[in-house]
Amino acid sequence: MSSLHDIPGTQPVTPPPRHPKAIGVGVMGLHEGRTMLTALATRCRHLYPVAGCDLDAEKTAACKREWPGLFYTSDYDEMLERPDVGVAAIYTPDSQHAQHIIRAFRAGKDVICTKPLVNSLDGAREVLAAGRQTGRRLMVGQSTRFFEPFIRQRAAFQRGEIGDVELADAHYIHRMDWYYRKSPWAATDTDWVFLGLSHPLDLLRWYLGPIERVQAIGLRSRMGGAFSVAGKDIYLVNVAAKSGALGRAMGHYGCHELPRARNCIELMLYGTEGSSLAQYHDMRYVHTTAADARATGGGFQPGALGEVVEDYLYAGRHYYFNSEVHGMHYGEFANYADDFGRALVEHRPCSPDLEEGIETFCLMEAVRRSAAVGGSVELAPLLEEAGLH
Ligand SMILES: NC(=O)c1ccc[n+]([C@@H]2O[C@H](COP(=O)([O-])OP(=O)(O)OC[C@H]3O[C@@H](n4cnc5c(N)ncnc54)[C@H](O)[C@@H]3O)[C@@H](O)[C@H]2O)c1
Repeated sequence: MSSLHDIPGTQPVTPPPRHPKAIGVGVMGLHEGRTMLTALATRCRHLYPVAGCDLDAEKTAACKREWPGLFYTSDYDEMLERPDVGVAAIYTPDSQHAQHIIRAFRAGKDVICTKPLVNSLDGAREVLAAGRQTGRRLMVGQSTRFFEPFIRQRAAFQRGEIGDVELADAHYIHRMDWYYRKSPWAATDTDWVFLGLSHPLDLLRWYLGPIERVQAIGLRSRMGGAFSVAGKDIYLVNVAAKSGALGRAMGHYGCHELPRARNCIELMLYGTEGSSLAQYHDMRYVHTTAADARATGGGFQPGALGEVVEDYLYAGRHYYFNSEVHGMHYGEFANYADDFGRALVEHRPCSPDLEEGIETFCLMEAVRRSAAVGGSVELAPLLEEAGLH
């Protein structure tokens, strides 16, 4: 079977020159992990792929056809023993992340772990303790933060264009029957609060800072019931940050999508100086801007703001989606991987790191508990149980 990469001249992007101190990566779990291998091989400067690991021989063979020069194994420990693997990148089912991270730390490797970092309080405590004992570093692959409109939205926020965020509104809505057929563990071994809602909850935490309490309600959809989903697959969440700012998150994983009306992931920020919206998949970034009446002679009201729509879908489709208009996560995965690689090479901090990831886990767990038992849940006791305070 051939792939895009077997046909000369069809590489969607030109690989950047490798940094002299670039670090080798071993990828664990070769479905989303295959996307990561491509991202590393074609878009990263500070990291490069050296190995792949999966129990599934067909998935391994497909990667071998695409990237024949790498080392492949079904034995994680064998991959971790290799001196050319400096970073382990983990893309196994959610409930296995904790043990795979801990084994990598103990083998002396730094770690990229896809979201959710962990999906249990025990896992959170053990991973945090292992990180502290070994001194190894970790980056959570919160892919949405690294998608073009979200990068631009953040840069504008850091330039002060939004001011203080008083209300953040985020959602991730995606019909998931196909996912249960592909990955039955998604119905039985985790909860949508960790799987899907991890994206909007991370975005709220990113902008609002530490969260004090949450109030959530949830429901299992008819589609979720048909696949015997263990928890709920519809969530509505209100959060109050320590700063006093407010946030709202929504997730629905058993519905009929209407992507023309509403992109599957969106983050709306309402700040003291302006407002903005970032969208996934359509790669749009919509924001307020100073409406300078002097430029046109127009008689705008003092302080009036214009609206700007920036659309990067066609400009960004080669890098983000491998030349499809919508597709897999190549660009976002490359962006967070290279961010981490650069942080390692230059001894700089990265975000979200291990502690931030554990804090976001506590937010997700608070949402799960609030929806399960009703009422609001404070984060402080969970943070303490996880070992953060
Ligand atoms: N936007 C994102 O960042 C994003 C998107 C989708 C999925 N994910 C996350 O990525 C992870 C994987 O999701 P997926 O859709 O690729 O799942 P998947 O079920 O398609 O793939 C998981 C792979 O891990 C392999 N595996 C399981 N246990 C293993 C072991 N002990 N040793 C070696 N291989 C093992 C399986 O054989 C399988 O190929 C999940 O945690 C999911 O939440 C992240």
